[in-house]
Amino acid sequence: INPSSFPPDFKFGTSSAAYQYEGAALQEGKGPSIWDIFTHTYPERIADHSNGDVATDSYHRYKEDVAIMKDIGFNSYRFSISWSRILPYGHLKGGVNPEGIRYYNNLINELLSKGIQPFVTLFHFDLPEALEAEYGGLLSPKIVKDFRDYAEVCFREFGDRVKHWITLNEPSSYSIVGYGYGVFPPERCSSFLGCSAGDSSTEPYLVSHNLILAHAEAVRLYRKKYQISQKGQIGIILAMLWYIPISQSKADEDAASRANDFSCAWFLEPLNSGKYPEVMVKHVGKRLPKFSRRQALVVKGSFDFIGVNYYTTYYAFNVPCQTENQTALTDACFNSTTERNGVPIGPKPGTNWLYVYPRGIQEVLEYTKEKLNNPVIYITENGCNEIDNGRKSLNDTVRIDYIDRHLVYIQRAMRNGVKVKGYFTWSLLDNFEWNSGFSVRFGIIYVDFKNGQKRYHKRSALWFKTFLHQWNNESRH
Ligand code: GCO
Repeated sequence: INPSSFPPDFKFGTSSAAYQYEGAALQEGKGPSIWDIFTHTYPERIADHSNGDVATDSYHRYKEDVAIMKDIGFNSYRFSISWSRILPYGHLKGGVNPEGIRYYNNLINELLSKGIQPFVTLFHFDLPEALEAEYGGLLSPKIVKDFRDYAEVCFREFGDRVKHWITLNEPSSYSIVGYGYGVFPPERCSSFLGCSAGDSSTEPYLVSHNLILAHAEAVRLYRKKYQISQKGQIGIILAMLWYIPISQSKADEDAASRANDFSCAWFLEPLNSGKYPEVMVKHVGKRLPKFSRRQALVVKGSFDFIGVNYYTTYYAFNVPCQTENQTALTDACFNSTTERNGVPIGPKPGTNWLYVYPRGIQEVLEYTKEKLNNPVIYITENGCNEIDNGRKSLNDTVRIDYIDRHLVYIQRAMRNGVKVKGYFTWSLLDNFEWNSGFSVRFGIIYVDFKNGQKRYHKRSALWFKTFLHQWNNESRH
């Protein structure tokens, strides 16, 4: 990839999330999140029985980490704020934690002093436990007001310096993985516990509905009260898990199209029109919540940019719709697979969900362009993992190849008119990978978790350094 094909104002950075990075899980006034409770109650649900108590210890090491970003040459950094570090009980009545405010002020100021722009996610899976306990978290519409209040604290405290806000990270992951598969907390309809704890025919839709409303109300507030004076932009990040048909039969092509509508248009279409996609209305019927007229107006157009998280693509094929016991996992009447005639869709660098399929990123970008009438887009996550190989992980040529090839397809989308304004790789550091714990590594920086958290550049970090150096030189001339 030729660095000079990216414009001079392009954003290059890395992405992270509070629970995966910060550590200091219960220090300095932070309240527990559902992830703190989950990892401590059921350590066996995490591959290596680990948790985020310490994670990459970025709460204490942020200066070192920002210095690494600066040295590599990144101009932006995406991180998330831990809701329960700001509001230990989740709502305003429980009070604001001044130490939490101080930490994020320090981090933001450190970034800006090094010329790095903060991109701040308000919610990346770590719901305050108090809200889960009090009213069932995202299942309750009460979440909308509490999220808006929390967002307002952040706009007020940090918005003079933060110019890119992201309300939510991957609402579909939260609802499908937490309430369909039951693998993330709160483990509704759990594959561990059986479905007695939840109803996967309705809850994923309800949770996503409440997330969309929470997002939209926060955007509305920002626009009304803060945007003019603070001059920032606000958007949402979607998980763009992409499907291509396994055959050219009409049935499989339709299946892939439905799969993408259920995975991506679920959120894109409400942002576009204030309604769910037709195909979802048709397949989910009464179980799909409806936006009231007022809600539709608030949801429609509630973004300045879209964040796209893209990792992989699967084959989709048609299966007959179930006539009974439909769930959010079966409603789209398709199945997915990673192989065709025994040949995988792409190489598999690490764990068994991530196959390299770079063309998918171009397709996802063009799909998003079409659905939303050519919005501004940031690629907010893209990257690959490796199984923990000890120090062998340092020689990550597979990751370099992955990033390079995805940048090529991003370029193609840009040439076709998609307004991509930035690229953030997941992730700067190896970190706590949810149910996989520390057993897989996603960083361009190796973290030696057993020996004092020392950071080492992998080859991909050096690749980025050269790439960004060339880009800086060339785009300035
Ligand atoms: C997300 C992702 C990240 C993961 C990454 C690698 O929701 O943004 O789940 O938190 O760590 O996608 O799997």
